[in-house]
Amino acid sequence: MTDPKTDANTMWGGRFASGPDAIMTAINASIGFDQRLYAQDIAGSRAHAAMLAATGILSPNDAEAIGQGLLTVLSEIETGKFTFRADLEDIHLNVESRLTEIVGEPGKRLHTARSRNDQVATDFRLWVRDQCDAAISSLTALMQAFVAQADKGADWVMPGFTHLQVAQPVTWGHHMLAYVEMLARDRSRFQDARNRMNECPLGAAALAGTSFPIDRAMTAKALGFDRPTANSLDSVSDRDFALEFLSASSICAMHLSRFAEELVIWSSAQFRFVRLSDRWTTGSSIMPQKKNPDAAELLRAKLGRILGATVALFTVMKGLALTYSKDMQEDKEQLFDAADTLMLSLAAMTGMVTDMTANRDTLAAAAASGFSTATDLADWLVRALGLPFREAHHVTGSLVALAEHKGCDLPDLTLAELQTAHSGITQEVYAVLGVQNSVRSRISYGGTAPDLVRAQVARWQATLK
Ligand code: ARG
Repeated sequence: MTDPKTDANTMWGGRFASGPDAIMTAINASIGFDQRLYAQDIAGSRAHAAMLAATGILSPNDAEAIGQGLLTVLSEIETGKFTFRADLEDIHLNVESRLTEIVGEPGKRLHTARSRNDQVATDFRLWVRDQCDAAISSLTALMQAFVAQADKGADWVMPGFTHLQVAQPVTWGHHMLAYVEMLARDRSRFQDARNRMNECPLGAAALAGTSFPIDRAMTAKALGFDRPTANSLDSVSDRDFALEFLSASSICAMHLSRFAEELVIWSSAQFRFVRLSDRWTTGSSIMPQKKNPDAAELLRAKLGRILGATVALFTVMKGLALTYSKDMQEDKEQLFDAADTLMLSLAAMTGMVTDMTANRDTLAAAAASGFSTATDLADWLVRALGLPFREAHHVTGSLVALAEHKGCDLPDLTLAELQTAHSGITQEVYAVLGVQNSVRSRISYGGTAPDLVRAQVARWQATLK
């Protein structure tokens, strides 16, 4: 909206003799992306108008006209009838300007006792708060998918790895529940961030508060905040709530990328630990045999984008003197993208985990290979023969070397062969060389024994329902 006499902006152009350069409009306008805040912006304005009436700052008639007019604007936007204008910079001025076209004079009174600085801080908090809620419920669904896998294969054996080398046998259920623990911490990070950000900046006005007798507790309550923010300068300056959301998102995306990598490895022809469903894989246009784990690969990559947004916002905020600076308009686009990316990633991972099938036999065969029960043998030497662990480690190492030399696994060695390393070894040792016994013996709290896994599955099922 421009003033026909000067070509200056009628929302703020009183002291301007000319309008902005076209390139200035292009770099300055945020409406191209902050229109995503329309619902929050209108909710904030409705709460503000109702409060202005309740405190006698606006007449009940004006407030009523504003409240109704804002609903009209809302429905125009939602039905695609609204024209967003770059010359009106952002969502706040677009909404206010259209409101004034619809209701006339009262529309011009809406901006009493507020500023776009507290407006945008409020709108953005409301938006990020919704995203925390969305992340929390998506994470719950993903955790349920992992728990269902764990339930199915609580006692299925598979190799546990360190350095991607076979380490000790573990259970499938235990491996699935490892991710449930990670995702539970992710969920609590979003919950913590939400709790902390749930204070209402509205009423901080430009930076110093206002001389009008506003009721900040009333607007805070109307918008579902726990309370108003306590310092007006802080209210319009900080974007730590957005950084917390992005940080929690980055950590969560890092977790997703680790399971994604495991899926890429596990679904390969060399491993065949899992079969991914056709719904989450693609073929090759030239190699007919191919079934590529594209969704897993993309999930492995998505952290790059989310962490990029996190670093970008830290970089924008670093060194900004209080209070608001236009730099802060750069807080939105990448956070929007990061949030979209996270929600899509969580949905895709939930689908993949729900649909994947573990190859129980392949897992069991792999669990028994690679001398995976060598630690069990060493522990047996300690328990049954009273060897110091360091000596038992050495004896076992020599038997691993022997088996490797013979091209067999530890349980394939004869008793006579075992006794070459230590004469005290008896027939009983074979019990601990089997992978089933190995996992069953890992009963320390948090260990991989099937009974413990079943108890953890039950705990999560109760927690998540
Ligand atoms: N579009 C602006 C933003 O996103 C809104 C706040 C503008 N405030 C100002 N004083 N120019 O940050």
